[in-house]
Amino acid sequence: MLKNIVAAVNFITSHYEMKPTVGVVLGSGLGSFINEMNVTFEIDYNNIPHFPVSTVEGHQGKLIFGELSGKKIVAMAGRFHYYEGYTTQEVVFPIRVLKFLGIKTLLISNAAGGTNTTFHVGDLMIIKDHISMFALNPLLGKNEETFGPRFPDMSEPYKKYLIAKAKTIAKENNIELKEGVYFGVTGPSFETRSEYKMIRLLGGDAVGMSTVQEVIAAVHLGLPVFAMSVITDVGIREEENIITHEEVLMAAKNAEPKLTLIFKELIARL
Ligand code: HPA
Repeated sequence: MLKNIVAAVNFITSHYEMKPTVGVVLGSGLGSFINEMNVTFEIDYNNIPHFPVSTVEGHQGKLIFGELSGKKIVAMAGRFHYYEGYTTQEVVFPIRVLKFLGIKTLLISNAAGGTNTTFHVGDLMIIKDHISMFALNPLLGKNEETFGPRFPDMSEPYKKYLIAKAKTIAKENNIELKEGVYFGVTGPSFETRSEYKMIRLLGGDAVGMSTVQEVIAAVHLGLPVFAMSVITDVGIREEENIITHEEVLMAAKNAEPKLTLIFKELIARL
């Protein structure tokens, strides 16, 4: 794994030397953040040695380098999901590459289903914690000490100082933010009505098919993380239980400007 990551990083830096300080993972339907960047270099995932290749509609599949809010950043347009058939080690491969490229902070976005019944489609939720019991932990196997410790502490995976900054930004811009626990599932089927209820009972405010493995790998690497969900459906409601991927993408698109503003301002204040 380490060798493959070093090979990927060497390949990227042999084409482009900028050292990014911020990494951004863009979720389903949330790619327009790129339009805010002063893009200086792009590279398709399938050109990078050992990089997995994205297979889902709405995910572009490239690393985009550039500047935003005076910071050098690298954005992942498209991420990898366990449900695509990758191992969780493959899912987190790009996070390790970003770390070795030099990032100091990781921002993550995703589309998620609301299980908190006070949530509405289009709401933004700061992830304050997560529950992940279903996809295999990406740190299973021999520990790579270069990445981090065998038993990483998970008491504050989503950094409080970043959450506080995001809340200030939201207030200044009159954006309402929810805050809650993200419940990671494997997908790819959406949840049954009973599963949404169970997730709620177990303490999940939103449910989604990404993010938790990336966050575990980032914490292992000692990377501070901020993550936000766009609530794209509220399947727990009896009358609104039919969910399609198109609906998820549409809701994400509509909420995108708010999310982009918060990420952009947060990057400015890092
Ligand atoms: N469940 C799981 N993942 C999701 C959902 C959902 O309802 N919406 C968007 N991603």
